[in-house]
Amino acid sequence: MSHFEWRDGRLHADDIPVEAIAEAVGTPTYIYSATAIRAAFHRLHTAFAPLDAELHYALKASPNLHLVRLMRELGAGADVVSGGELERAWLAGTPMSEIVFAGVGKSEEEVRAALDGRFSPLAAAAARFGAPDPAGRGPVGLFNVESESELGRLSRIAAELAVRARYCLRVNPNVDPHTHEYTTTGKEENKFGIDADRIVDLVERWVGRPGLDFRGLHLHIGSPVPRVEPYAEAVAVAFELIDELARRGHQVTVLNLGGGWPIPYTEGSVPPLEAYAERLVPLLAGRVARGLKVLLEPGRSILGNSGLLLARVEHVKRGRAKTFVICDGGMHSLIRPALYRAFHFAWPARWQGPPPRWVEEPDLPGLERCDLVGPICETGDFLARGRLLPPVEQGDLIAVFSAGAYGISMSSNYNDHGRPAEVLVDGSRVIQINARQRLDVLLETEREAVELTVPVVS
Ligand SMILES: Cc1ncc(COP(=O)(O)O)c(C=O)c1O
Repeated sequence: MSHFEWRDGRLHADDIPVEAIAEAVGTPTYIYSATAIRAAFHRLHTAFAPLDAELHYALKASPNLHLVRLMRELGAGADVVSGGELERAWLAGTPMSEIVFAGVGKSEEEVRAALDGRFSPLAAAAARFGAPDPAGRGPVGLFNVESESELGRLSRIAAELAVRARYCLRVNPNVDPHTHEYTTTGKEENKFGIDADRIVDLVERWVGRPGLDFRGLHLHIGSPVPRVEPYAEAVAVAFELIDELARRGHQVTVLNLGGGWPIPYTEGSVPPLEAYAERLVPLLAGRVARGLKVLLEPGRSILGNSGLLLARVEHVKRGRAKTFVICDGGMHSLIRPALYRAFHFAWPARWQGPPPRWVEEPDLPGLERCDLVGPICETGDFLARGRLLPPVEQGDLIAVFSAGAYGISMSSNYNDHGRPAEVLVDGSRVIQINARQRLDVLLETEREAVELTVPVVS
């Protein structure tokens, strides 16, 4: 299930014992395997190859510049949901034309920078990152527009800058992706996308308006989507719209299926990616042959099982009701268990037994039921609850698996902890791709108070 395995009782990432990484950079630390990333990318790419689908890596999964560069080397474009992610994608070498920009709340400043590099917030700093002057870099490949209000903003700014903004409308197909309610995005009560029955009217009313160039439709129904059928249902909604638009003379050339392609957090818990492709390829192949371009925006399916969080045990506390294994990593490093009650398989980095199975209740002798928690002053701060683990003691390392996506990107400074370090292992090479966040860096923006002059209305 993963490129992390125990050899001679020590957990390795590719060829490197994770203990050695903890020794070098401390904990908590995210460790990614470049081999695993390449394998996951190729797997998805191969599955959807019959559609010649373009893969746009969703930076929100794990936005580290070096990881985005790796994606670029593999041939990915980028899917971004903020001006910050956009700049990262561009700094990592993604041409603007291969960036798609989604998100319900794109600000004036973000839209401006996405259309014209002179407005990049990095205009003065790009050289420090080895990037050229962003002025003249051109507009993003596609905006995924999520409301009529946004369309108005896009048209106005594009016209003002004398550019044309290529865009897709994000359709809310009102399908149930059967995932956590917080990561369900394709039902009509969710804030994302535009109701399907409003799309045709919107296209008709906005076609020909200044600065706009309508290209197609975008779908992203949730993440992770543990069943195949919701994608097929969403595609059916898109097909109806595409056909109706064609009847009215509006050609759709792009269909973006979004992300959400799942990973097994436990063995066999979701269908393999190939099952999604097997269902969708026959649906789409005919239209692709007639010129429809299919885009995917994978994040989790590439990074999720390519990374782990390594944490060190600070204390073991045996209480009357429970045993707590208290680590230096917690909800501030990996929030998914606290936020979604997500299951992440966790196991000590030193383990002499047979390879543990990624199951909720491992069937091995000598395990102890415990809560794996962090140092944060919240009862909701846990990485695992009621989990069977081999006995551990102070100083032991614990690997929390499937943490490569939505790990570091959702980490926080809560309780004034610096965000974890990040290390990329590539065969026998170990590359620190992010330093542990230092307290003085955290404090920098508070160092001096600045008195503001604001009009006071009495
Ligand atoms: C618009 C959009 N595209 C792509 C993704 C990536 O999803 P995943 O990481 O599940 O592939 C997301 C994540 O929620 C998203 O909001």
